[in-house]
Amino acid sequence: MSKKLLLKDAHIEGIRYFDVYRKQGGYEAVEKALKMTPEAVVEEVKTSGLRGRGGAGFPTGMKWSFLAKPEGVPRYLVVNADESEPGTFKDRYLMEFIPHLLIEGMIISSFALGANTSYIYIRGEYSWIPDILEEAIDEAKKNGFLGKNILGTGYDLEIYVQRGAGAYICGEETALLESLEGKRGNPRLKPPFPAVKGLWACPTVVNNVETIAAVVPIINITGAEYAKIGVGRSTGTKLISACGNINKPGVYEIDMTITVEEFIYSDEYCGGIPNGKKLKACIPGGSSVPILPANLLLKTINGEPRYMNYESLADGGFATGTMMGSGGFEVLDEDQCIVEHTMTLSRFYAHESCGQCTPCREGTPWMYKILKKIESGEGTSADIDLLWDVQRKIEGNTICPLGDAAAWPVAAAIRHFRDEFEWHINNPECLTRNYGLANYA
Ligand code: NAI
Ligand code: SF4
Repeated sequence: MSKKLLLKDAHIEGIRYFDVYRKQGGYEAVEKALKMTPEAVVEEVKTSGLRGRGGAGFPTGMKWSFLAKPEGVPRYLVVNADESEPGTFKDRYLMEFIPHLLIEGMIISSFALGANTSYIYIRGEYSWIPDILEEAIDEAKKNGFLGKNILGTGYDLEIYVQRGAGAYICGEETALLESLEGKRGNPRLKPPFPAVKGLWACPTVVNNVETIAAVVPIINITGAEYAKIGVGRSTGTKLISACGNINKPGVYEIDMTITVEEFIYSDEYCGGIPNGKKLKACIPGGSSVPILPANLLLKTINGEPRYMNYESLADGGFATGTMMGSGGFEVLDEDQCIVEHTMTLSRFYAHESCGQCTPCREGTPWMYKILKKIESGEGTSADIDLLWDVQRKIEGNTICPLGDAAAWPVAAAIRHFRDEFEWHINNPECLTRNYGLANYA
């Protein structure tokens, strides 16, 4: 049984509301943190080993300690709730069902960072959630946890919710800041990082929803105890949104010591694959991370079990490993066509490119066009090589990670499933979709 820190009260009726949340020990972490110094709170987060839960896995305490502190300049905390990575829906779950956990985490984090104004930037498609968050903010304020002189400590904080307008790129932290400033959401060149020059050119920490929510149990149980959960540099718990060909899609909290096999087949999590179908592949960390075929997904190249954590999923680098990413776990059974799946992802990235850099602006629709040609049975072997070449020229040559995110799924699909691409070129029908012949396990 996995240890639950974030979702431990998710089943309690009415946990969305302040009174019920408070009865379960809610806001005790705020009371504790406000008796500490901001530096001590940052130290606690550093000790916990918490890594950014949005996808990059950057150490949170380190990011906080990078925050510039020039005299007389405001600092900001911005929560990235622009969860748009295909297959990722864990932040939605947190905000919809336990909004006070995020608000509580924001109060502690803002205090630690010396921010008096903080924002939640939420994707436009989550249209019903801002009302839930604003209600939670109002409740927290009425109960003295927000506004002026919180709990009589002299600390002031206001939290505002800002809706996005439906662009995936606004989840990239600097595009998000541009959008929050009222401009078109074009990513900025980094450095300078937001920690030095962020919102309105002021020092800003941008953290994912789950990252900020995790600060609450860290303060409650201490950073040292949090660091004992999990393994190695994968400390604490991680939310995984599971979808695709599984019996029990949903959001799960894992402690990062379980194997991928256990996660897919155990009844506690995904509950196996419907209709006794075989596992073909999985994208474990949202659409931007490399797809892995079943043999490399269940075991590393050295025959070790593959675990659901940052290190084990990445074992072997991009040739034989993948990434934890945002925790958007998508399972593909033997009937899924990799060429079609990759084409669908390419269409998404081509549509979402902001168009600032030539390799991304021109390369993403080009990849989609080639994939469409191959998928429809009109491709040639040269098209596979061309596709490989185009993705290589995008990777590492763009302002923001969207370029890499568009290139990696294509590279991994060709690397691991070249035979499916060749089948599409040599045969008018799709091998997997029409005949169910593939067996990659
Ligand atoms: P990144 O690795 O460039 O940065 C990670 C964080 O560390 C950023 O906040 C950055 O400002 C900070 N940082 C790094 N070096 C720093 C330094 N020297 N000084 C100060 N701060 C520093 O990655 P990025 O662009 O933030 O995220 C990419 C990831 O996002 C991808 O791996 C992907 O998995 C994920 N993603 C998640 C989505 C979602 O819906 N959750 C959507 C799209 C992508
Ligand atoms: Fe825009 Fe793509 Fe360049 Fe990112 S990589 S800045 S999305 S064109």
